[in-house]
Amino acid sequence: MTIAVVLPAAGRGERMGAGVVKALRELAGWPLLLHAVAGVRAVAAVGPVVVVVPVGLVNDLTVLLAAYDVTVVPGGEQRQDSVRRGLAALPAEVDLVLVHDAARPLAPPAVFEAVIAALRGGAEAVVPVLPVADTVKRVEGDRVVATVARDDLRAVLERAHREATGPATDDAGLVEALGVDVRTVPGHEEALKVTRPFDLAVAAAVLRGRTGA
Ligand code: CTP
Ligand code: MG
Repeated sequence: MTIAVVLPAAGRGERMGAGVVKALRELAGWPLLLHAVAGVRAVAAVGPVVVVVPVGLVNDLTVLLAAYDVTVVPGGEQRQDSVRRGLAALPAEVDLVLVHDAARPLAPPAVFEAVIAALRGGAEAVVPVLPVADTVKRVEGDRVVATVARDDLRAVLERAHREATGPATDDAGLVEALGVDVRTVPGHEEALKVTRPFDLAVAAAVLRGRTGA
């Protein structure tokens, strides 16, 4: 069974602030993208890897990632465009595809392995989830219109609840819309999404914890 990973990394990282694109932000001396690619390559079951990057950076990032045996392709305007381009670049023999945001550079191998195990077990689509710790308010403008029952919620890669701006904020949502049965496996706190400068500080702390430094 050939298992591939598409790594969307073509975003601008606007919420990170001005400066370099998010993929090249430094975390413990490495660009974020390098952490993400090394993390994926640490999963033995993963075969082909396609990294989707900002259009102007394809050449530079092909060089940066040369040691990791990945295909680098240019992304699109929206995340979903980038995912589509990544999928289009996969070799024909691929059986299973994992889409993993480069913005989660520290996702532990165990999370990938849990997804792969569930797929091998027959699940059609799988997403790692964490329980939501915060009370979640539905707001319109600055007005709270509802408190969402927390026990029913899972943070689907945290996107669905925190960033929902339309029907296609995450891949699992797209798959659900097709009527496919989407299964969950336990996520991991260290698979945190790096969105703002604060998240970089948390990620640095995670790495310090790993190395015992
Ligand atoms: N992404 C992508 N192509 C886009 C937009 C986003 O490949 N056109 C990727 C990002 O690189 C990231 C993931 O999708 O790995 C999740 O997006 P997000 O965290 O929103 O990153 P950015 O879009 O870069 O950040 P921002 O929204 O703050 O600009
Ligand atoms: Mg974005």
